Amino acid sequence: MAQTPLRVFETASVSDRYARGRPTYDDKIVQHIVGSIRSELKGEKHELMVEVGCGSGQATNVLAPYFHNVHATDISESQIVQAKALSKVDHVNYQVGSAEKISAKDASADLLIAAESVHFYDLENFFSEVRRVLKPGGCLVLIGYVHPNVTPTTSNGAQRQLTASLSNAVEKTIIDNLGRTLVPLYYEIQNGYPKIFEAIPAKQKSKEYFHLIYDTWKLKNVWDFIDSAILLKCPEETFPIESERKRTKVLDTFVRNWNEILENNEISPESVTSYEADYKMTVITASNFK
Ligand SMILES: C[S@@+](CC[C@H](N)C(=O)[O-])C[C@H]1O[C@@H](n2cnc3c(N)ncnc32)[C@H](O)[C@@H]1O
Repeated sequence: MAQTPLRVFETASVSDRYARGRPTYDDKIVQHIVGSIRSELKGEKHELMVEVGCGSGQATNVLAPYFHNVHATDISESQIVQAKALSKVDHVNYQVGSAEKISAKDASADLLIAAESVHFYDLENFFSEVRRVLKPGGCLVLIGYVHPNVTPTTSNGAQRQLTASLSNAVEKTIIDNLGRTLVPLYYEIQNGYPKIFEAIPAKQKSKEYFHLIYDTWKLKNVWDFIDSAILLKCPEETFPIESERKRTKVLDTFVRNWNEILENNEISPESVTSYEADYKMTVITASNFK
């Protein structure tokens, strides 16, 4: 998929917004992942988890308790600084490093995970590293998701008839501000990584979907998610969101459109008590690499 590395999370402010706007992964997903690792050690912790593209530790913190050792890496120094600052566990070794050249020994990892990041990698080099680093019986896990579907709740209950139009407004704001290189990657994730799944050189692979639901969101949470998705600084092309002024304009326009959708449906924005955000997460597991 992406052959030239896309360096889009490279500043402290981008990393800060990423940490604020992104979800972590819940217990259903964690148990599915841990259950996918074949092990002789019934009921005990696994030895090593290696993570690539760890961001600010969204997957690291929830999976680390199942491993004696965790090696979490990201190509961006500012993401690693955030991950260290937000770390909830003390047995994680965080390091700047690339998914195409992983700093881990041969046949050492029980789990190798790339959450919301494989679409950025040079797949050929990444899979050759996965083959090298995983133990026999070890498991590769890939997670991907795009924007959540959002439903407002008023005193009359959940307003599901608005889910499609509000969620489309979130998606449109993101797509319009991603930049040309990233849009095809967005659709690859949204469709459940069809091309990437096909390319995994493993004898066993499976794909499952999980719904991760937050039911007490405010509009600020929707806004923060958008802010985490549009603030990718892409040096390869003229990126539309280059300045604070433009960022503010995008977010203001988004909120205006949002309120208009509510009002056109005779719901005043003030009557919304909360929003439900429903992320559809693709979780791919693969083992027995060829
Ligand atoms: C969308 S974030 C995902 C962060 C986190 N894993 C999560 O689940 O939210 C993608 C991360 O992949 C990192 N990344 C991009 N290309 C990379 C590469 N070639 N090697 C390692 N990390 C990379 C970025 O710096 C970024 O932190």
